[in-house]
Amino acid sequence: MKILPYQPDQSGLAYTVGTTLDRFIKLKQSDFPYASGELSQLLRDIALASKIVNRETNRAGLSSIGGAFGQTNVQGEEQQKLDVIANIRFMRALSKGGEVCAIVSEEEDAVIDLQNKSGKYVVAIDPLDGSSNIDVNISIGTIFSIYRRKTPVGSPILKEDIMQKGTEQVAAGYVLYGSSTMLVYTTGFGVNGFTYENSLGEFFLSHPDIQAPKTGQIYSVNEGLYNDFDPSIRSYIEECKTRKYSARYIGSLVADFHRNLLKGGIYLYPATKKNPSGKLRLLYEANALAFIAEQSGAMAVDGKQRILEIEPTSLHQRTPLFIGSEQMVNEIQSMILNTNGQIKEYHH
Ligand code: AHG
Ligand code: MN
Ligand code: MN
Repeated sequence: MKILPYQPDQSGLAYTVGTTLDRFIKLKQSDFPYASGELSQLLRDIALASKIVNRETNRAGLSSIGGAFGQTNVQGEEQQKLDVIANIRFMRALSKGGEVCAIVSEEEDAVIDLQNKSGKYVVAIDPLDGSSNIDVNISIGTIFSIYRRKTPVGSPILKEDIMQKGTEQVAAGYVLYGSSTMLVYTTGFGVNGFTYENSLGEFFLSHPDIQAPKTGQIYSVNEGLYNDFDPSIRSYIEECKTRKYSARYIGSLVADFHRNLLKGGIYLYPATKKNPSGKLRLLYEANALAFIAEQSGAMAVDGKQRILEIEPTSLHQRTPLFIGSEQMVNEIQSMILNTNGQIKEYHH
């Protein structure tokens, strides 16, 4: 009789493709020398809420008949739109976990103080991104940023806890509810992507250490707004056409960003006449994706500076956003700065 030792993983790496998200988070905790595990727990809370939102997303087409098969609960949530439901789900998960003291959400006018005396973290979240796509069965997402509060734990929440620059993020990520559901996040040590396995109810590492291509051939912009763009932006778009780049724009930032991150490309949402500061929100859209972009070797700017260095002044503040492959973002940034008679090259 021959007995062989089990050799599960030739590489010796603890986090190879197929590792569950929970296990990965646990293994990665050692990246933070004095970590007490709270950030890890917070990431798990977000993952759990995203599984629930994923479930709601999958049956969004049934929402109008939800009451008919007994979906009513005391809050009457079946009548609510998915973005409101997603907000409720994330609020609940984050308040129950105990690690978070305050939340900034696209769905809430004010900062929500969770009255949690031991919470060290502040979360900014877009619970449901791409909401115009819900009713038409197109990919949507969730975007989140995590900050450490600046004032002592247990004291009242102050402006400085909330209005932090993107460079202060300790973690950020997004969930894409698409043909597969994926969770992609960073804690400042590279970017990793996990794919959800429905039947097992688990996220598995599927995209370890994502590296964005340095350049690409995709541009993503709402070209219907072309006539409202600055001449430098119009020139860039013309250049994309001359080079026969592919135009790809779904209208869900998470989905457009994710595709460009993997394939190489640029997403732009510049200032328009209607939205002179752009449309996208700094605290819960641009900052998280900018952190992920930079961690994967891509770039994110507002046309003048790194997104991550913008000093926030209001909760729901908007910013123009140019995000994606490094060379492409550098190119449009140079065109913008040249047109405006400013510095020529931009590097971070
Ligand atoms: P949200 O659904 O959270 O309000 O975000 C929508 C955003 C973003 O996801 C998308 O890229 C952009 O708005 C689309 O805007 P336009 O319809 O103006 O192109
Ligand atoms: Mn959004
Ligand atoms: Mn939203």
